[in-house]
Amino acid sequence: MIDALGGAQSVLVLGGGSEIALATVRKLIEGRCRTVTLAGRDIEALERSGKELEAAGASSVDVVAFDALDYASHDGFIRDLVAQHSDFDLVILAFGVLGDQDLAETDGAEARRIVGSNFTGAVSVLVPLVGALKEQGHGTVVVLSSVAGERARKSNFVYGSSKAGLDAFCQGLGDSLVGTGVRIVVVRPGFVHTKMTEGLDAAPLSTDADTVADAIIAGLGRGSETIWVPAPLRIVMSVLRHVPRPVFRRLPL
Ligand SMILES: NC(=O)c1ccc[n+]([C@@H]2O[C@H](COP(=O)([O-])OP(=O)(O)OC[C@H]3O[C@@H](n4cnc5c(N)ncnc54)[C@H](OP(=O)(O)O)[C@@H]3O)[C@@H](O)[C@H]2O)c1
Repeated sequence: MIDALGGAQSVLVLGGGSEIALATVRKLIEGRCRTVTLAGRDIEALERSGKELEAAGASSVDVVAFDALDYASHDGFIRDLVAQHSDFDLVILAFGVLGDQDLAETDGAEARRIVGSNFTGAVSVLVPLVGALKEQGHGTVVVLSSVAGERARKSNFVYGSSKAGLDAFCQGLGDSLVGTGVRIVVVRPGFVHTKMTEGLDAAPLSTDADTVADAIIAGLGRGSETIWVPAPLRIVMSVLRHVPRPVFRRLPL
């Protein structure tokens, strides 16, 4: 179970190579977390991360193959995981791709890869995952959304719309789960310096993976449903959300 400090004993990461997720798991290991499962595509990289987590104090780290785009595998993936593990206190849904916006505007395959990973892939695995957590009677799912989903901007609307869909799905899902013991926590970071944003010009109020991890741990401890990182982005986005379209499309965003 999650304690008042955001601690969890067993954690599953979907998109186990995510720098934000790994920073969060390292901090959870400083607390009560002992059992970690990293699920993702690059098994060798996940095994390297697993060794680092064990050196940091995790008692066991499992690595399992998971591809968010392989929708047909998701039901069986969750069924097998549940059969092999006693339970998961916390799941971090961290996989995602920024993609190539320019390419996606003319190439359906790139647009499908972005939306298919960030939205359809997430929905596809969340449905059986939440079913399993309801069966065990408890569990918290931390979902990495983005401020980009608050209002799609012309320079990034394929990624932004995929996160908007994910965010909306998770808000409704979270509300539907009240009383079940299962909780959904939506995290909305701004620009974070990780391998996803490498080489890009940093946006205002940019942060790093450790800062997002600290905000996630603090939010879990507070029982938050939505976590903005950094917190002032909530105010910034509530203003931007109401800017009229003809003005918004001229902003250098
Ligand atoms: N960095 C930011 O500025 C920022 C801001 C807001 C929200 N976010 C969100 O935060 C989450 C984590 O991002 P991050 O910054 O930690 O980036 P990251 O280090 O690049 O992590 C993204 C992870 O997603 C995995 N992934 C991508 N497609 C996948 C698929 N089809 N199946 C399984 N795994 C897949 C990648 O695995 P591979 O190694 O196999 O590619 C990678 O480990 C993402 O959802 C991102 O959209 C990031």
